[in-house]
Amino acid sequence: MSENNEPKTITINLYGKRYRVPDNMTMLKALEYCGYAPTRGIGCRHGFCGACAMVYRIKGERQLHYCLGCETRVQDMMYISTISYFPLEKQSYKLDEIEPSANMIMHLYPEIYSCVSCNTCTATCTQGIDVMGYIHDAQRGDFKACAEKSFNCIMCNCCASRCPAGISHPEVAMLARRINGRYISPKSEHLENRVEEVKHGNLCEEVHALIEKSEAELRELYNNREIEK
Ligand code: SF4
Ligand code: SF4
Ligand code: FES
Repeated sequence: MSENNEPKTITINLYGKRYRVPDNMTMLKALEYCGYAPTRGIGCRHGFCGACAMVYRIKGERQLHYCLGCETRVQDMMYISTISYFPLEKQSYKLDEIEPSANMIMHLYPEIYSCVSCNTCTATCTQGIDVMGYIHDAQRGDFKACAEKSFNCIMCNCCASRCPAGISHPEVAMLARRINGRYISPKSEHLENRVEEVKHGNLCEEVHALIEKSEAELRELYNNREIEK
């Protein structure tokens, strides 16, 4: 930004082409400003869906940076590429039929035992998650720890794109969270009650009342909601 708070124009390099863009934009906005209309690699625009993974390097620096394009502001001489799709290894399984043990994960995702503890996945994570830590938990069959550490994963796949062992971290973590929910966490009485209420349509009035609210009222409600301890 300039001294009078007007955006300055900076240079970025997108897919190998040079563009001039205002410096107050996110990388995703800049992509659109430059005339691209992505149909993949874009979703919520607010850091939740994990669709907009991007990688950049500042000219003259060696380090590669991984980030969410909808949350990261452009910088002068940024060389940008998008990761709109990354091929993960995704196994299929029936949650009700698998045995929640280290043997099972060894069978489904044997590559996790090739981890060389380089910590690149943790250093790359856009959400600051201890990714290497949760992979080590999964190796030991500690699904609770893996589920808890990976809870904020938004499946942007940045970690997997850099792993020398070819591990699909978000899929391993998803399996651990499913196992934790299905076999390990205590049953949540209030959730079961809520599901019953949904089944019987008891919540229709509340839902209609929410639909009528303005965005500001919804934000207020969300920010002041009761959070289970
Ligand atoms: S990037 Fe791969 S090999 Fe390196 S610590 Fe993470 S899981 Fe292990
Ligand atoms: S663990 Fe991997 S997939 Fe999940 S948020 Fe971090 S970088 Fe993205
Ligand atoms: S568009 Fe959803 S996280 Fe960026």
